[in-house]
Amino acid sequence: MKTRPAAAPAIPPTAKPTNPVAPGGASPATAVPARTEAFQAGTTSSRAADLEGASHGYTSPTKVECPFSADEKKVLSQKIPCPALAGMFNAGMLKVEKDGTVKIPDLERALSQLGPSAVTRKVLTNGADNTDDVKGSFNLFKLNGSNLDHTGSSGIRQDGVHPERFELLMSFSKDGQRLTAKDLADAGEQFAKEDPGLRGRVTQLAEMTIVLEVFGQRAADGTRFFTREDARQLFVDGCIPSSWQPPALPGKVGIVDVLGGTALSLFRQLFNGR
Ligand code: HEM
Repeated sequence: MKTRPAAAPAIPPTAKPTNPVAPGGASPATAVPARTEAFQAGTTSSRAADLEGASHGYTSPTKVECPFSADEKKVLSQKIPCPALAGMFNAGMLKVEKDGTVKIPDLERALSQLGPSAVTRKVLTNGADNTDDVKGSFNLFKLNGSNLDHTGSSGIRQDGVHPERFELLMSFSKDGQRLTAKDLADAGEQFAKEDPGLRGRVTQLAEMTIVLEVFGQRAADGTRFFTREDARQLFVDGCIPSSWQPPALPGKVGIVDVLGGTALSLFRQLFNGR
């Protein structure tokens, strides 16, 4: 169960900062820039992106059919706590019915285009299938408060979109521009302190590691990173970063590769409840 006070929905009404403490002790006020206030005042994330001249993220060349208008998608995206699921939804990779139902084979198809290995996909699809009593599907818009909800998350997309939590995440960037694996791990430490729990700590570490492996850009030394814009598109806008390209060889990102075998069994237990 989450112990962090539930963050107020950001859009609308005005989001309430959840006592973020930036590295170096920056106050919440200094950690949240002016454009966040504009967002909190009722602008949508996509409008914020337009103002900054940002694109709308990656779009699949083979979009699945979608029962929602563009405006409906913007509103519905904010109900999806997972940046990867929101990204697949907005990119047209995930087939979703009007009531939010996603069939597990459709989730599997979308995940297989992103890069996770077959074992990782199995853990993720089982986890999705166990979020409600209906076998073979899950509801994309009813994941907040589900059994996959865990402690220690960034809170950016928890019960709405909270840009001030994104600024807290970015405040862990050592150069102020990029988020590296170390930066994400440091941020995870902070989130775990705010909202403790072993289940959350491990799940959050696994999620942040996979998200960087799947959507991050590759530096010259082979390590992955997010630019500020990549991270904002993913976490705040719920879009796959426009810098992302489908992997030439999908199915390569495994939890074992990124975290080690012990983490896989722990993650499986926690994500799949066994
Ligand atoms: C490539 C696949 C995936 C990646 C990279 C990924 C990544 C992430 C990340 C990084 C977060 C943490 C967000 C934060 O702390 O702000 C998250 C949260 C979440 N993910 Fe995913 N995810 C993936 C697939 C899935 C699937 C298949 C489900 C199943 C329905 C799912 C359900 C969730 C839920 C419910 C949360 C919110 C947890 C909470 O805040 O307590 N994710 N995911």
